[in-house]
Amino acid sequence: MPKVTVPQIQASKVRNGSEPLVMVTAYDAPSARVAHEAGVDMILVGDSVAMVALGYDDTLQVTVDDMVHHTAAVARANPDALIIGDMPWMSFHVSVEETVKNAARLIRAGAQCIKMEGGRKRIKMIEAIRAAEIPVIGHVGLTPQSANVMGGFKIQARDAHDVRRTIAAAKGLQAAGCFAIVVEGVPDVAGKLIADAVEIPIIGIGAGADVDGQVLVYHDIIGLENRFKPRFVRRYGTAFEDQVESLTAYTSDVRSGAFPADAEMYKATDELSEALGLYGSQPT
Ligand code: KIV
Repeated sequence: MPKVTVPQIQASKVRNGSEPLVMVTAYDAPSARVAHEAGVDMILVGDSVAMVALGYDDTLQVTVDDMVHHTAAVARANPDALIIGDMPWMSFHVSVEETVKNAARLIRAGAQCIKMEGGRKRIKMIEAIRAAEIPVIGHVGLTPQSANVMGGFKIQARDAHDVRRTIAAAKGLQAAGCFAIVVEGVPDVAGKLIADAVEIPIIGIGAGADVDGQVLVYHDIIGLENRFKPRFVRRYGTAFEDQVESLTAYTSDVRSGAFPADAEMYKATDELSEALGLYGSQPT
């Protein structure tokens, strides 16, 4: 499959006959290779890395340096999927100049575009990033970087006023030049109305089925994150349990002496053994 491009994604609208888009997060080279083999359309190097891979309780702890590090690891796997660098908290809040420079760092690390959380108040920053020729994906609804303001990871757009406000935000992001929008944690009807209201694809996560694509966190899909399961997650694997089983077997084999076996050693040649005096008497 040739490398997926921004114009291809931008043109993918289910109501125009496109297949739903597939986005998955990945934070390192092995998971990017898996995503590539699975044929996903987009890999999001999400700031969710903070929670699923780095052990933090929220996404506010990761920096641009962290995101550059993980984006570069994903890019080194050279996947066909479009790579999206996620702008972490405080990387687009201070000044336009800093915002554009931070977005450029993710592109130089190997992303083809960036994603930024927030609605209409981000428009100035999005326009500046677009002016630097960097494609942008918006993100509205439940925006985890706003967890302290929202009072936690709470479903958004629960009343008609909020649904209309979120639709208006999506339209604003489209007008500012976003080529797609992630909509997270909203009732299914809100996901549908937002997808109906714009020309660009809406990628849902906990936004129902009537959108233009889905995104899930890698560790949720494979079951490596097994502590809690939001309603919108479907686990396709039991990676945590599978990996515990593998490491338990390894632990047991090391302790019993069953590992390593002869076939897992670099056996000494006869010459080396002889030179070391290992035939007959042992070396002193
Ligand atoms: O960081 C992330 O993984 C995300 C997705 C939940 C959309 O932003």
